[in-house]
Amino acid sequence: MTGPRLIVALDVPGEKQARALAEQLSPALCRLKIGLELYTACGPSLVERLAALGYDVFLDLKFHDIPTTVARACERAAALGAWMMNVHCLGGEAMLQAARAAVDKAAGRRPLLLGVTWLTSSGTDEMAQIGMPGSPDSLVARLAGLASKSGLDGVVCSAHEANTLRAAHGKNFVLVTPGIRPRGAAADDQRRTLTPGEAIAAGANYLVIGRPVTRAPDPRAALEAINTEIGKKGLRTED
Ligand code: C5P
Repeated sequence: MTGPRLIVALDVPGEKQARALAEQLSPALCRLKIGLELYTACGPSLVERLAALGYDVFLDLKFHDIPTTVARACERAAALGAWMMNVHCLGGEAMLQAARAAVDKAAGRRPLLLGVTWLTSSGTDEMAQIGMPGSPDSLVARLAGLASKSGLDGVVCSAHEANTLRAAHGKNFVLVTPGIRPRGAAADDQRRTLTPGEAIAAGANYLVIGRPVTRAPDPRAALEAINTEIGKKGLRTED
């Protein structure tokens, strides 16, 4: 899979702001992520409209429900033309396998199916609250293993976990990492950030980056600067 490594998170409240960013940026420089806020505001047609502008769209809705419901939602997301989508690994093996079978049915290009392991906003305390023993590190390793075994293409993870997950699951396991900040950029509410170059060096295939691009005075210039930092014009070329 070649093309841009950067996935810009369109964490904006509506179509007007999303379109303005899509028009300033370029499908040659980045892919776009639609999350819960924008999807809830604009609905599925936005996926089709951004795809029509030439963008690969990561539909970040983190499905987690009974296997049949998740499978059907994945089928619909694939039909919209999403390039990547995700499901919660906590849904278990039957749900993950159903999601994989659903994306396999996609007409045309099969979307990439990623697992969400344990959200980086949650830690040991949150695990204990829901009765889970152990540490986030061991849970992430376990859930990434479940994703791999269930036929998912990879996981969304912290760049701090990328090295370990790459070693455990090999070069074809797709690692998508948020929590990225160019050197000198505001951390916002992110903790333990890595720079784009560090995340790639740790084994990430794609980087999700939001505010350092979307809130920059010149989003396109900010994007180009990050692509320059990554090297090879920010393109994934090796496979
Ligand atoms: O603006 P910023 O670069 O912090 O945005 C990061 C994006 O990645 C947001 O859309 C956020 O929801 C998402 N994300 C994250 N951490 C995770 C999973 C997703 O920051 N563990």
